[in-house]
Amino acid sequence: MPPRNWLAALAAAAAAAQSHDVTLVTQATVEKLWLFPELCERWRGPLALSLWVPDTAVVEQAYATASQAARSCADATDGGSVSIHVEVQRSNEAYPVNRLRNIGLRSVNTSHVLVSDADFLPSRGLRDAIRAKAHWLANEKLALVVPAFQRKGGRCKTLESCRERLEPLPTTVPGRFGQLARCLREKDCLVFQGDNSPQSHGTTDSSRWLEGDETVRPIECFRSNRYEPYVVVSMAQMPLYDERFAGYGKNKIQHVSHLRRMGYLFAVLPRHFLIHVPHPRSGSKKEWLNSYQTHSAVDTLYTKFLKEIDARYGAATRVHLCSQVDGDFRRAKRRWAGA
Ligand SMILES: *[C@@H]1O[C@H](CO)[C@@H](O)[C@H](O)[C@H]1NC(C)=O
Repeated sequence: MPPRNWLAALAAAAAAAQSHDVTLVTQATVEKLWLFPELCERWRGPLALSLWVPDTAVVEQAYATASQAARSCADATDGGSVSIHVEVQRSNEAYPVNRLRNIGLRSVNTSHVLVSDADFLPSRGLRDAIRAKAHWLANEKLALVVPAFQRKGGRCKTLESCRERLEPLPTTVPGRFGQLARCLREKDCLVFQGDNSPQSHGTTDSSRWLEGDETVRPIECFRSNRYEPYVVVSMAQMPLYDERFAGYGKNKIQHVSHLRRMGYLFAVLPRHFLIHVPHPRSGSKKEWLNSYQTHSAVDTLYTKFLKEIDARYGAATRVHLCSQVDGDFRRAKRRWAGA
């Protein structure tokens, strides 16, 4: 018979594994709610959605739609609860993405969180795959990267034409590793933003991930300062998002940079993923692409933010860049100098 203390240690490990769970936190506008039933069906766990409505006139309607969505989810959450918050636009503000994320984060009751975005669906079984990595989750300063991909949409221009092309979602948007691999081979899927901003997810190294086994792979270094993966993080020490970032641009990299300054380790989850569903271009992205002013105001704020966190944490423990020269910066500067 095994010694008593060995049994006790086993029981403690089992209890620790039990106590790890992860809430999916996301935010969206009402037009995105059509994805919600499929999201719940795939996630099957605790979920916090912050729903933004542009003015007070449609709040009632938004609540009605949201609670209908919540009901459609209720059967699929496997013991997790769904929390929906409806947030109303404040005088003409841009989409308050980080405020919405923080509202969701404040409602989290689990040990861990995965902050995702509107338009993303998880792979089937993602929650269980995360919970199975209990040994990794025990590290309060680990950011477990969930690789992000996108389904191509053939440039659909309206919500209706996007939906027409994509419904039923279970057959068009890969939910399992094998389906994703096929979609990538057939060039109907690609790494998220792989076409227009490869630095954003390049460090995840998706080709290695595709060939990998079931083990978590630590990230030795960042290939770019613009790496902004979706990550599972313990709630224990996680900072909130900086709400000065609203609308399009730098709102997520801001948080990754913060974790990195705090000395978080990054490692890649095997076999499971998030996948972006195509949609017509959003208002804040149009504004971002059109306006040099918006762009440079956000860049200025981001530079200021980096100075603030550098002053607070120093540089000693952060994951380093793979190369001393971060080429992105110079390229970006040249592009905007001509604008
Ligand atoms: C956390 O628990 C509170 C109180 O029971 C509940 O109101 C809230 O919806 C829960 N949050 C989530 C994300 O399920």
